[in-house]
Amino acid sequence: AEELQAVAILVPAGFSDHAVERIERTFRRIAIERADAALVTDEMRSTVRGIASFAGINAVMMDALPNLELIASFGVGYDSVDVGHAAANNIMVTNTPDVLTEEVADTAIGLLINTIRDLPRAETWLRDGSWAKKGDYPLSRLTLRARRVGIFGMGRIGRAIARRLEAFGLPVAYHNRRRVEGLAYQYHPTLKGLAEAVDTLISVAPGGASTQKAVNAEILSALGANGVFVNIGRGSTVDEAALAAALANGTIAAAGLDVFAAEPNVPKALLDAPNASLLPHVGSASQHTRRAMAGLCVDNLVSWFGERRPLTPVP
Ligand code: DGY
Repeated sequence: AEELQAVAILVPAGFSDHAVERIERTFRRIAIERADAALVTDEMRSTVRGIASFAGINAVMMDALPNLELIASFGVGYDSVDVGHAAANNIMVTNTPDVLTEEVADTAIGLLINTIRDLPRAETWLRDGSWAKKGDYPLSRLTLRARRVGIFGMGRIGRAIARRLEAFGLPVAYHNRRRVEGLAYQYHPTLKGLAEAVDTLISVAPGGASTQKAVNAEILSALGANGVFVNIGRGSTVDEAALAAALANGTIAAAGLDVFAAEPNVPKALLDAPNASLLPHVGSASQHTRRAMAGLCVDNLVSWFGERRPLTPVP
């Protein structure tokens, strides 16, 4: 423990309190306003060996810290970290998988039902007095019954969502880079093939170059006029202009979005879409789960600097 206390860890402002407390108890914490190379001081340059990341670390920031060994990223998605540059410079990157799987799957199902049954607007109907003044909330045009659901991205979270859908009695199919061994759900080698086979598409796909705008006009149109698109993965996987157009034109029926391409900015066309249900990236956002994620993030720092063994390195 004596030794760890000498290891300097850079912690950007706003990092989870719970994690900051533990980092402070275990290491020498150096605070920084944000992970920006322009803010790196000479002291940071010569001492920092680890960094806690939640908003991402780019190549310039890595280059500004020549003694950097480990980027402990908060969250399961690590598209905000330049992992190629990290690998080329022998910098280990860890993320926080598993501990958020069930929470994100719960949110995906909640968002799916909200989107299809219009529940947030039904609550507004009650709260603004419309129920008393105008009567019952209009019947929802869409239903979850008899839907065929496709999951784009069959990792841990995708499988947790599929298990829940099975319990709902809904058939599940999926598209993934590779077929997942031991899964009975129907596999589609292309996203287009999946979109043609289902009417409800849930994207859990990670961000990054390989999924950039993968959900485009063609995919949305393949879902059909009864189609519903839900995104719990990354906003970058969607062509948001094409999605807004598909919602406005009735190419698909509705969308539920927890993530956006340029958060916290949400395109006006989506804000204005009455058939979109929107959430501010809250997939894993319970105190319980964020605490577990922060714990795993710090556990990675402790394990790396104590035993040279990352617990959850990114692939
Ligand atoms: C994740 O874990 O990737 C969530 O999106 C929170 O950042």
